[in-house]
Amino acid sequence: MSGIEINSVLTENRLFEPSAEFVAKARLKPDDLKALKQRAEEDYEGFWADQAREHIDWQTPFTRTLDDSNAPHFKWFSDGRMNVSYNCIDRHLEKNADKTAIIFEGEPGDTRHISYQQLHDQVCQFANALRAKGVNKGDRVVIYMPMVPEAVIAMQACARIGAIHSVVFGGFSADSLRDRIDDARAVMLITADGGTRGGKTVDLKEAADKAMSKGCESIQNVIVLKRSAHDITMQEGRDHWWSDVVDGMDSHCEPEWVNAEDPLFLLYTSGSTGKPKGIQHSSAGYLLNAIVTNLWVFDLNDDDIFWCTADVGWITGHTYVAYGPLAAGSTIVMFEGAPVIPDAGRFWKMCEQHKVTIFYTAPTAIRALMKFGDEYPNRYDLSSIRLLGTVGEPINPEAWMWYHTVIGKERCPIVDTWWQTETGAHVLSPVPGVTVTKPGSCTFALPGMDVDIVNEEGESITEANTGGYLVIRKPWPSMVRTVWGDDQRYIDTYFPKFGGRYYLAGDSARRDEDGYFWIMGRIDDVLNVSGHRLGTMEIESALVSHKAVVEAAVVGRPHDVKGEAIVAFIICQNERPVGEEAEKMVAELRNWVGEQIGAIAKPDDIRFADGLPKTRSGKIMRRLLRTIAAGEEITSDISTLENEAVVAQLQGET
Ligand code: WT7
Repeated sequence: MSGIEINSVLTENRLFEPSAEFVAKARLKPDDLKALKQRAEEDYEGFWADQAREHIDWQTPFTRTLDDSNAPHFKWFSDGRMNVSYNCIDRHLEKNADKTAIIFEGEPGDTRHISYQQLHDQVCQFANALRAKGVNKGDRVVIYMPMVPEAVIAMQACARIGAIHSVVFGGFSADSLRDRIDDARAVMLITADGGTRGGKTVDLKEAADKAMSKGCESIQNVIVLKRSAHDITMQEGRDHWWSDVVDGMDSHCEPEWVNAEDPLFLLYTSGSTGKPKGIQHSSAGYLLNAIVTNLWVFDLNDDDIFWCTADVGWITGHTYVAYGPLAAGSTIVMFEGAPVIPDAGRFWKMCEQHKVTIFYTAPTAIRALMKFGDEYPNRYDLSSIRLLGTVGEPINPEAWMWYHTVIGKERCPIVDTWWQTETGAHVLSPVPGVTVTKPGSCTFALPGMDVDIVNEEGESITEANTGGYLVIRKPWPSMVRTVWGDDQRYIDTYFPKFGGRYYLAGDSARRDEDGYFWIMGRIDDVLNVSGHRLGTMEIESALVSHKAVVEAAVVGRPHDVKGEAIVAFIICQNERPVGEEAEKMVAELRNWVGEQIGAIAKPDDIRFADGLPKTRSGKIMRRLLRTIAAGEEITSDISTLENEAVVAQLQGET
């Protein structure tokens, strides 16, 4: 059993209570949280049924809450009908038509405010355009866009007509885009001529053209948003400008009333094989957890300005940008750009300017900005902020303390939210007006979430600070429904142990003596680079697809900003390159991986050897490679290695 180890001593024992000022205005007070948890414990289905009736507007009310007759394929609210876009937009119009839904800022500093009424009209026009181009309920639509409001409009428009969107992060390469389009057999691609990031133009349409030149036969139409002054080619009959397709379209569009279980979207994520999996989410169940977590964890109120910095290409950008906060009737901030352009004060400047009240970002961003010193945040008035959040990886206590003191001025609770693409929404997190936090801990399970840490036999680990498998013991509304086109992989990945009873998260974790959850890391071959999940196998298959490479092993190495850095050990077809030749090969392979997957997957460090260390049964000794990658002393016995000399080569000594 790899990765599960007994964690020795607990070092973090500082406690942070929410301020009286925060508690006074908080949506959930200690008694409210207690009541929610108690209700969920006493009547699990009744609890979720209550929530679903309270927070979702149904076209046809459901009578059945949970259908577990075909476990682990669970259905929620399965005889109800509703529409996600209606719940995110239309239901706010009576009272809040003029309220700002989206505040957008581009990298050069251009801003746009979009009201709920405007959002409604634009979503409807675009939805009508999709219908006019033949997109039907259940069809897949791939969205490959910069972080602009039109990305959210496209997602909402798909939801409105019951089409299934699959957003592909703009940083992914043409090849990754093609794989996802082909796997989903998408009929439409929505993209832009280009996007801006870090002062550079991202050539989205060019990448899309490249993808389509090598596959993507299912694509019938491409809609292109004009965003940059970039010259691109448009293919007659297939490619259409966004402005042309919405021209003259009605700003009313009757929503498609879908079944609660009809898929809302697919989102591809890395796993422990070479092929990313299309995580399939439902409509009503997904939306429900998206809403309640925005209320419980972000304490969203009518006058909040909520900025989640995630791109819509990730699950965080779905649940806490495109859907949850809008369904809750809030105002969101969207930013197309890099946090260090023009300087490391950009986030803080924007918080001041847009009077952000809730700020949610990744530990890697906090660590990166922390390095620039306190002077940047100190230049701006951050007094509008009342709540801070983090997501994506464990936050180291040092970064937590900086966030708490320099950004939050010791006034703002920090919610460290643990969840996954597959869970759809927060699972473990503090409730800000209630939970006493500990830096680095995601604290406790939210109401209605039955989370446990178990041993190999599936028994609950009650001993404090003993690591085990993190599992969710009961199905929940926003859980993954299946892996698109690969049901068996869904079962094998998430329900492989414990008689298929528990959802296996793929993380190891421990609970301390006060019952706080601490995430220890992944139990599979998945890396967490800057809060993004990357499969080592995925990078390895990209590397071995290069003609000069015969074998590759990829491991992670601790990195003080990114969390983990990618280290690749390579065996070449020809003689092991050294000196200048090795340098050339490193550059070539980094580029190659960038083309195959995307820039985020480029190895930080590439080393060449004549062979890889393997066990007698032929398994690559990954643990040893991790030790080598980290530059640590090798303490394990390597005398059984076939070729001991390779260790020195991998260490870079020869
Ligand atoms: C994996 C899920 C959920 C949106 C971002 C990533 C790690 C996530 C935390 C946290 C410790 C965390 C886990 C998890 N993770 N949040 N607060 N503390 N680890 O989504 O790409 O699906 O990755 O990210 O390892 O399994 P994802």
